[in-house]
Amino acid sequence: MAVFGLGHIGLPVAAFFASRGFHVFGIDSDESLLSKVRGGRIPFYEPGLAELVKGALKERNLELTSDRVSAFRQSCILFVTVGTPMAQDGFIDLSQVRSVVTSLGEMMRNQEGHKLVVVKSTVIPGTTEEFIRPTLLHSSGKSKEEFGLAVNPDFLTEGSAIEDLASPERIIIGSLEQSSIDALKEFYSELYSGQPPIMLTTNTLNAEIIKYASNSFLATKISFINELADFCEGAEGADVQVVSQGMGLDKRIGSEFLRAGLGYGGSCFSKDNRALMQAAARVGAPLSIVGAAEEYNSARPGKIVERMDRIVGGLAGKKIALLGVAFKPGTDDIRDAISTELALELLRKGSRISAYDPIALPNFREALGDNCEYAASVSSCVQDADCCLLVTEWDEFRTLEPLDFQSMKQKILIDGRRIYDPNKFTGRMKFVAIGLGTQFRRGPPATESGV
Ligand code: UGA
Repeated sequence: MAVFGLGHIGLPVAAFFASRGFHVFGIDSDESLLSKVRGGRIPFYEPGLAELVKGALKERNLELTSDRVSAFRQSCILFVTVGTPMAQDGFIDLSQVRSVVTSLGEMMRNQEGHKLVVVKSTVIPGTTEEFIRPTLLHSSGKSKEEFGLAVNPDFLTEGSAIEDLASPERIIIGSLEQSSIDALKEFYSELYSGQPPIMLTTNTLNAEIIKYASNSFLATKISFINELADFCEGAEGADVQVVSQGMGLDKRIGSEFLRAGLGYGGSCFSKDNRALMQAAARVGAPLSIVGAAEEYNSARPGKIVERMDRIVGGLAGKKIALLGVAFKPGTDDIRDAISTELALELLRKGSRISAYDPIALPNFREALGDNCEYAASVSSCVQDADCCLLVTEWDEFRTLEPLDFQSMKQKILIDGRRIYDPNKFTGRMKFVAIGLGTQFRRGPPATESGV
């Protein structure tokens, strides 16, 4: 098989398939990326990926190449995993998909044999039938019976992509042809040694919508709990963490993605919310709930900075320490990260910023340039700061104690991800936490016990 596009999705997918004994061509037009990966240097941080790639290359199951023609000739299933970023006008940018699909069609024109094209890239609902199929038909000159076409979205999360691939909760296969559905079912059955997860088969449109709707639902869940956190902050003695724990015990609600914080970031949620809203508006069914979740999230960094302003007593000239800049732990990705929004807002207010992150600082530096100080450790980050904001819940921050903040000018800690025990910090320094009510009343701690 061949995987076209070796980014955050394509490379883990190609390496994982190869690690399970399939012969996989990993194709990318970027030669420098290919030579880096061949040499064991993965261009982004993803736990376990380097080892997986190394093993697959050693076993010769993974071939990294820019030679589309040779890979195409030797493959039956062609996975499209190129990026679909948001264009300047807010619409989805399909240029990479167009380029790959056009060249797949052209190669089909010149070669015999039935190929199955599988769209893994996240594409706006309707794209497969309205854009990809016509492009393939046009560039190949073949009839629709002469090739297969399916949508097979991925649900990988950055930072645990390999784990997610090893034990997915579901596989969604969308196609208009039974033969394509059967071929993919057979492939996944083999990939998971005869014990695949639940496979839902449907048409291409539903498969495309499922991908977007899943992300939008998770994003909405986060905005819901974050708004509830605002309420808890204004209510004496309330604590959103306990509220979310109690809600999560209801299986219908579930505890996942109910962690209040500074807001969601990353390259997927906002982009996908906007794309889904556009698709829905096109058919006259605006998604107001998704819109509200998105609007709330984009206003959140500004509100957090206003709150900091009040807590610190004016932000102009103050040094603010940001602990963590990655959009979540386990990755060095800062695309659409809340840290960037917060930093820009703080700079507008005239603050000086010092940032520390175990691995994402180089990417943050690329985005923010000389406008920030980049600290080599937690202690140098918080030194002489007027306020410290915990932005990303990396493990190494979880063990910090009030003593670690003693070198601050004003000892103010804002726990933006609820990783600290308020009892440990309250009274030792000014401690504020997302979703923790005013005048935190200790009372007995929340506990869970069996019946
Ligand atoms: C997300 C989805 O979770 C994946 O299923 C999907 O495949 C992927 O997008 C994609 O479309 O490619 P990802 O963006 O890697 O994955 O990261 P998440 O773990 O979903 O986190 C997104 C953001 O939500 C992060 O900023 C995180 O800090 C925040 N979050 C998450 C919360 O604020 N609270 C939570 O309870 C959970």
